[in-house]
Amino acid sequence: MDKTETKTVPPLAAVSLAPPDDRGGPAQPLLIVKELQKHFPIKGGLLNRVIGQVRAVDGVNFSVFKGETLGIVGESGCGKSTLARLLMHLVEHDEGEVIFDGEEVGAMRGISMKEFRRAVQMVFQDSFSSLNPRLPIEDSIAYGPIVHGMDRKKAKERARELLGKVGLKPELFAQRYPHELSGGQKQRVNIARALALEPRLLILDEAVSALDKSVEAQVLNLLRYLKRHFNLTYVFISHDLDVVQYISDRVLVMYLGEVVEIGPVDQIYASPKHPYTRALLASRLSFDPADRVEEAPLTGDPPNPIKPPSGCRFRTRCPMAETVCAETAPKLGAWIDASTHLAACHMETPGSGHSQAGMMAMARPAAKPGTETKRLSA
Ligand SMILES: Nc1ncnc2c1ncn2[C@@H]1O[C@H](COP(=O)(O)OP(=O)(O)O)[C@@H](O)[C@H]1O
Ligand code: SF4
Ligand SMILES: [Mg+2]
Repeated sequence: MDKTETKTVPPLAAVSLAPPDDRGGPAQPLLIVKELQKHFPIKGGLLNRVIGQVRAVDGVNFSVFKGETLGIVGESGCGKSTLARLLMHLVEHDEGEVIFDGEEVGAMRGISMKEFRRAVQMVFQDSFSSLNPRLPIEDSIAYGPIVHGMDRKKAKERARELLGKVGLKPELFAQRYPHELSGGQKQRVNIARALALEPRLLILDEAVSALDKSVEAQVLNLLRYLKRHFNLTYVFISHDLDVVQYISDRVLVMYLGEVVEIGPVDQIYASPKHPYTRALLASRLSFDPADRVEEAPLTGDPPNPIKPPSGCRFRTRCPMAETVCAETAPKLGAWIDASTHLAACHMETPGSGHSQAGMMAMARPAAKPGTETKRLSA
């Protein structure tokens, strides 16, 4: 850590921001995503006509509960960033719905786009290009509140307060320019900027992926602190399974534009249901002999999202694939509550026609005592 950064975050009594408006009550999921779809047209040929569609996000359903961190994992190109942009309404979806605290976003009677844009903020991987190189960081943080009508002086006061909250001494950092900061410091500034509008939901897309491991751990600690302190909810996107395990309460696994598994973090990591999740976890590097798994690691590249395989999209890489897997697309199953653990695989559905249908639950190892996800002290 740079000596000029504050080592401890300021006491809770220093909070000046108003508590978020919990319109739907604690039981109402903060975000409900229904059948969300985004296909990008591919143009080509002499006439530059549409010759295909990249099925980046293809009928995705899930909920995010108030106060939780939902981790989203999957290989590069599976649609994580497109999903994040759809949630933020930075790109328009083709089909589907996003419901925020019980209200449809941008609809006549729902939450307005302006209000939604205040309530949901995003932190990207590329910490440098997210900041204006010509603005002192204090001004970058104050920019959003000023645009939303806050008095300039008050916005700058808040910017300085937030700098303290993200562990950067305002008297040393407020007037610095982005090029004078390290990668970790820039990402702290981006987090402060995201918090400036008092959001309820932060979408973090590979937000720590570009940082050194030691800095990454500090920023993860900071995110956990800020979540409690500001009563936030996170959607945390990463290709790094360890980081997702470390920070998430629940995990959603994506493959080729679809959700293949979702459930509580401990269950997903100790007892994954989907062959893709099992293969992903088997591909993790580990120097601990106790972590050795019998599962084959993931091999080959994902298929082309312009022409995904019929039926189950994972079938071309799945060691358990059978005829039914090419004929019918498996469904995720019925959601009950936050503890529901679901996988879109024919082996999970009794009577699906797969020879192992209904037998996988018996074969799966139960989570061993002591293998729970290692958490930072809260
Ligand atoms: N603007 C775009 N135009 C065409 N294809 C896109 C666009 N953005 C993303 N894609 C494609 O959509 C798929 C999902 O990409 P992305 O959401 O960035 O995945 P991830 O974040 O998981 O790496 C990829 O095949 C990618 O090439
Ligand atoms: S549905 Fe079939 S191909 Fe797909 S993951 Fe399950 S067993 Fe493998
Ligand atoms: Mg991405």
